[in-house]
Amino acid sequence: MTQTAHDRLLIIDFGSQVTQLIARRLRELNVYCEIHPYQKVTDAFLAEFAPKAVIFSGGPDTVTREGSPRPPQSVYDLGVPILGICYGQQVMMQDLGGRVEGGKISGGGGTAEFGRAWVTPTEDRIDLLSGWFLDAREQVWMSHGDHVAALAPGFAVYGTSPNAPFAITADLERNFFAVQFHPEVHHTPNGKTLYENFVRLAGFDGDWTMAAYREEMVQAIRDQVGDAKVICALSGGVDSSVAAALIHEAIGENLTCVFVDHGLLRLNEAEEVVGMFRDHMNLSVIHAQEQDLFLGELDGVSDPETKRKIIGRLFIDVFQKYADQIEGAAYLAQGTLYPDVIESVSFSGGPSVTIKSHHNVGGLPEKMGLKLVEPLRELFKDEVRALGRELGLPDSFIGRHPFPGPGLAIRCPGEITRDKLEILRKADAVYIDQIRKHGLYDEIWQAFVAILPVRTVGVMGDGRTYDYACALRAVTSVDGMTADYYPFSHDFLGETATRIINEVEGINRVTYDVTSKPPGTIEWE
Ligand code: XMP
Repeated sequence: MTQTAHDRLLIIDFGSQVTQLIARRLRELNVYCEIHPYQKVTDAFLAEFAPKAVIFSGGPDTVTREGSPRPPQSVYDLGVPILGICYGQQVMMQDLGGRVEGGKISGGGGTAEFGRAWVTPTEDRIDLLSGWFLDAREQVWMSHGDHVAALAPGFAVYGTSPNAPFAITADLERNFFAVQFHPEVHHTPNGKTLYENFVRLAGFDGDWTMAAYREEMVQAIRDQVGDAKVICALSGGVDSSVAAALIHEAIGENLTCVFVDHGLLRLNEAEEVVGMFRDHMNLSVIHAQEQDLFLGELDGVSDPETKRKIIGRLFIDVFQKYADQIEGAAYLAQGTLYPDVIESVSFSGGPSVTIKSHHNVGGLPEKMGLKLVEPLRELFKDEVRALGRELGLPDSFIGRHPFPGPGLAIRCPGEITRDKLEILRKADAVYIDQIRKHGLYDEIWQAFVAILPVRTVGVMGDGRTYDYACALRAVTSVDGMTADYYPFSHDFLGETATRIINEVEGINRVTYDVTSKPPGTIEWE
């Protein structure tokens, strides 16, 4: 639980796939909220958290099952507004004296509903629904098997859908609201209005702003680390950059950043990152020039996992070597974000398959006996960007596409050589320049070139060429977990291919990768 002076909303997670989206919608309304799994929410927890309002998330279980997830009964005695969503609605009804029945998927009287549905209002309009039903009906997204069969005492119906006669219910006396659909998802287009009404009637005044967060965090960092020294692995990515800028504001020269140059960076990347932080922002940055070490150990290696493991291991060794030179370092700064710390309820269980070993600095703090400073732990990615802007980092930097820790190594299938990396860097720079020139950069989640381990025959002028082929990759995505290829125009692709072949010696063929994720991954390795 975080100490904050703001009014707080508690989201009790019952295991819905979309609980995080509830938090997103609320943060967009400048309301401070935290998600906690239902198992953790005890009477004592509630007393300490002191929420100004509570939301029950959806979830995959059925309240008709003995032992199904529930909040402590005391949540209903807090005297604060509660909103139950889907499973959360059923929990409220069952807990408060109503009745829930298992759904039938099809056939006469079928009550399960999955996907788009339309809710129509009953006669009385309530504040929760202000701005709703401007048309005769509202589109919502349903995903439920069970349904409420009898309302709990005190509740009335304010909206119905063909398969959910209790789609919107409320006990206005106690300010308890319960809906069968998911207002947090994109397919409930007016869902944000419902959250807006809920937090307004709960008395939130939208004081969760980035300026306030910056001020509070600066103080919190000072309180946490005092006069101790902090080190930070600066990658040039948005998260570590914003974390470094914030910590620097708090403790000035007691922060030292280490930028590890593994020789797998993009064109001019090291100069840009080090230049910006050292020269413009006055941070103390050690530029660890370790290209020979990394490229030496990667020599002759073509297996993707082996590459990743080598880079991960060397990174830790190198970081440790430089950090050891910083006398009195007691803290390690990390750009951990909120999605990484939410203890979501997982009902799937079981180990998942390792698709790729992601490279990060996990494991370092224990190994080096360092404590952690994680000033972004409460933020989502777009909030980190907003904080970065607030701290004066240039937009061009904040909006940069993600770049993986192992860098160009995983965009160079097969053996990595300095020659190939040089060609790749140039081709990538031309491609990104094209994307920027055509005003497409911000529409794309990530774009890069992969140099392929094949050479093909071409003809330039009157001569034969035998050079590398490359693949262009550009994807749209929300979180990197799934992705689709970006639909460039043929003109754009043709122009880009011509530029790369003309401007980059060593490439004579350009292809475009049209694989989505899944089944592909974003990176090639
Ligand atoms: P994949 O290739 O798994 O990538 O679809 C998903 C997102 O993660 C990035 N990525 C990494 N980021 N360390 C990182 O910091 C890594 O080892 C790593 N591998 C992939 C990738 O660029 C994409 O944004």
